[in-house]
Amino acid sequence: MSQDNSSREQWGSRIGLILAVAGNAIGLGNFLRFPVQAAQNGGGAFMIPYFVAFLLLGIPLMWIEWGIGRYGGKFKHGSAPGMFDVLWNHKLSKYLGATGLFISLTIMIYYTYIESWTLGYSIFSIFKMYFVETPNFENMKGFLHSYQGIQQGNGFDSIATAYIIMLVTFFINFFVLYKGISAGIEKLAKVAMPLLFIFAVILVVRVFTLGTPDPSKPEYSVWNGFAFIWNPDFSKLNDPKIWLAAAGQIFFTLSVGMGTIHAYASYLKPKDDIALSGLSTAATNEFAEVVLGGSIAIPVAVAFFGVATTQEVAQGGAFNLGFVSMPIIFQKLPLGEVFGFLWFLLLFFAGITSSVAMGQPIIAFLEDEFGFSRKKATIILAAFVLICVQFVVFFLEFGFLDEMDYWAGTFGLVVFALIETILFMWVFGADKAFAEINSGGDIKIPVIFKYIMKYVTPTILLIIMIWWLINDAIPTLMMKGVPDEKIPYILGARFMMLLILGLILFMIHLAWKNKQISKVEA
Ligand code: PHE
Repeated sequence: MSQDNSSREQWGSRIGLILAVAGNAIGLGNFLRFPVQAAQNGGGAFMIPYFVAFLLLGIPLMWIEWGIGRYGGKFKHGSAPGMFDVLWNHKLSKYLGATGLFISLTIMIYYTYIESWTLGYSIFSIFKMYFVETPNFENMKGFLHSYQGIQQGNGFDSIATAYIIMLVTFFINFFVLYKGISAGIEKLAKVAMPLLFIFAVILVVRVFTLGTPDPSKPEYSVWNGFAFIWNPDFSKLNDPKIWLAAAGQIFFTLSVGMGTIHAYASYLKPKDDIALSGLSTAATNEFAEVVLGGSIAIPVAVAFFGVATTQEVAQGGAFNLGFVSMPIIFQKLPLGEVFGFLWFLLLFFAGITSSVAMGQPIIAFLEDEFGFSRKKATIILAAFVLICVQFVVFFLEFGFLDEMDYWAGTFGLVVFALIETILFMWVFGADKAFAEINSGGDIKIPVIFKYIMKYVTPTILLIIMIWWLINDAIPTLMMKGVPDEKIPYILGARFMMLLILGLILFMIHLAWKNKQISKVEA
């Protein structure tokens, strides 16, 4: 196997790489999922398990993934199957890597559809398309549902608008991927990330200067909003659910356990730093999440609706907060159409710099293991994703998307993270792995992290996996409490995921068989 990766694509600059990985991590999760999770799970108290998970799972996995990725890149592998194959010389190892491709691909299919709503809503905001005389939860939910094609008449007569915007969003994603690492992904990040931060700061300043929007209701203030999201309710810490929610959020927000960080890191040069880069991208993500993400949607909701209603909104989930309650608020704010535009465009930038990352592992797989051109790889990915997304779009109300999100976006991450940690820290070996992560480093990682990565991280992952399996995954698998009319769609979503996984396994088999043949012929 050759260690010469000069023919592979490379990142253009250090700052470009950092922005791209930060863009990968900073996504809808930071601005929609995080505030909802915090509000649902004990407010300020949530930050305790959250930071524990950041230190013991997030940071170690970040380094592990940069390490595996850069190492795999030396052998011209940009995706998990090839990377695992060089970590563990065993015929099974490449098949374990299928998880890395499956998770990122499956998430891409539904995540990009949600991302397209943010693009749509940014346009609807600036043209005041959802603005009505008396905005309330009912009519804004109606607007969202008519847009999604679930219910007619509250703004849209059919799903056509959503469908077209979905196609546009996918087109932009594939165009960026087609352009490649430095001319596509890096360039996008260099434009989108600074804008994202500027928009977020403008919105945060607007939130801080809001005070009490309705003087007749002094308890509806933005300060009570901050109190609501940050006041710790320590009694909640006894509940294991809070700890699991925190771990799940750390995974999702840092994009670890998915195979995307590896893909980005594989385009590094062998002597490039990863110790500091890994840490700084994680820190940037946390700033965007806790400081910026925590200061917009929830505090502003309390200022306009009060604590009790905000609690209800948060229970209703991230879409409820982002696409129903925020549009009401924009209609009550002077220049609300501009703030609405900024908010949804911010979400769109956050989303697209994440969704292109989800496409990269498959593209790298087709390029590296089949020798396809980037163009061919992108077209294959585009065709496949566009077929799969039809079901997500048309079966949204029947829980198709949620089912995919559960298995790929929640449960799958822990499984993949456990596999990679064991392969790197135990099979490849903790000393070698730790040296690999530190090599070329601009900082020296404290040795304690070697032990954390070897013992603590996998132990926690194992506990989470078993706990979830028993308390969550098995009941979900049995479809406990699922209404009858949804069952065929849930089964359909599962069938599609199995098909995706089967196809990936088959492709891995094919790729390695071809390599065997060409080795013999040579
Ligand atoms: N981390 C992204 C977010 O916070 C989501 C993501 C998932 C990114 C999977 C890449 C891969 O929204």
